[in-house]
Amino acid sequence: MVGDKEITKLIKTEIVRQQWTLDLIPSENIVSPAVLEALGSSLTNKYSEGYPSRRYYGGNEVIDKIEILARERARKVFRLGKNWSVNVQPYSGSPANFAVYFALLNPGEKLMGMSLPFGGHLTHGWKASATGKFWNSVQYGVGRDGYIDYGEVRKIAKKEKPKIIVCGATTYSRVIDFKKFRKIADEVGAYLMVDMAHIAGLIAAGAHPSPFPHADVVTTTTHKTLRGPRGAIIFSKDAKIAAAIDKAVFPGLQGGPHDNQTAAIAVALGEALKLSFKKYGRQIVKNAKVLARELQQIGLEIVSGGTDNHLMLVDLTNSGISGREAQDKLEEVGIIVNRNMIPYDTRSPFDPSGIRIGTPSVTTRGMKEKEMKKIAGLVYDALIGGYSADIAKRVKALCKKFPIYANN
Ligand SMILES: Cc1ncc(COP(=O)(O)O)c(C=O)c1O
Repeated sequence: MVGDKEITKLIKTEIVRQQWTLDLIPSENIVSPAVLEALGSSLTNKYSEGYPSRRYYGGNEVIDKIEILARERARKVFRLGKNWSVNVQPYSGSPANFAVYFALLNPGEKLMGMSLPFGGHLTHGWKASATGKFWNSVQYGVGRDGYIDYGEVRKIAKKEKPKIIVCGATTYSRVIDFKKFRKIADEVGAYLMVDMAHIAGLIAAGAHPSPFPHADVVTTTTHKTLRGPRGAIIFSKDAKIAAAIDKAVFPGLQGGPHDNQTAAIAVALGEALKLSFKKYGRQIVKNAKVLARELQQIGLEIVSGGTDNHLMLVDLTNSGISGREAQDKLEEVGIIVNRNMIPYDTRSPFDPSGIRIGTPSVTTRGMKEKEMKKIAGLVYDALIGGYSADIAKRVKALCKKFPIYANN
């Protein structure tokens, strides 16, 4: 790369870190060189406030085509008819969710989402987020078994009568029953918004049921299992809602869209249309199931007893170490995870009782069930024994066999 020496050096160092560590953070992935190319293109030079053929700046012929292509591909990837409107402009997942609330709720009106310590995202109405300050937020969690308790969700909804019910999560390893959420929303006259950020790639691949037959609005990030650039998409079924959401994104919350990001989203969606992506999405789930089972067999506890998707939550309560210690011990040997609250956690968010583990990134590298067994052994050795040169060497050997840019 030509240019800034300090930044070039730091980027190279980060690429080396990514190559020689196992990334088990469920929200991360490895984008293709084609996605990187679009992100780093001259499209970043352009301003294009507005929407295709309704721009506030000249010179947007090419940008219009790119944005229209991104929308069309998004519809194809999720098997949607023309009745679904698509907005590909949100800068990221949090602004996308904010835009939906901004479009559909007046200040102070009520939204209901999953609470952060139980697996929801900050933007599902958590009190530290603007979404929990500007709107009246009520929250649901999961039962002691780690599953969403739909009876409890219904009870809260009937009592609180929210205007929007949000489902979708950041740390939930089980299939979400969108049909049940729809029924609850209908009973209380609420909109149903599904935030499928984490599982979008699985839905695209047919490895998780689709929310589209049930939701009024669906939001997603584009950079998790969907394996695109950082960004977001909002889908809405009703034309009036779509118009309100378009207005909320621009001019409500944002100025010019990031056209290089839009192009990179279109590239990623093009990749998601391929048969190889279907295999990829299914392999993510197969890998997660094997990894969860192996970790259980060696004595670690998994919240809800397993996984149906790309992630699992390890409950370390009975293992004598905290989530933070576990994260540090794993990082020392080159395994990257994030510490995480478990449902009903009695420890603090800064040093909680769990770690969250996911398979999207290692699956992109081409790893399969056999490697998941190896990873389970490495995780166990690192947690029990702490740092040893031998564990770190075994991690490096695995990373060497699966270079980050060999498979996409
Ligand atoms: C379910 C869910 N929604 C939204 C977001 C927010 O995305 P971003 O970090 O791009 O703002 C996340 C991020 O982790 C998420 O997990």
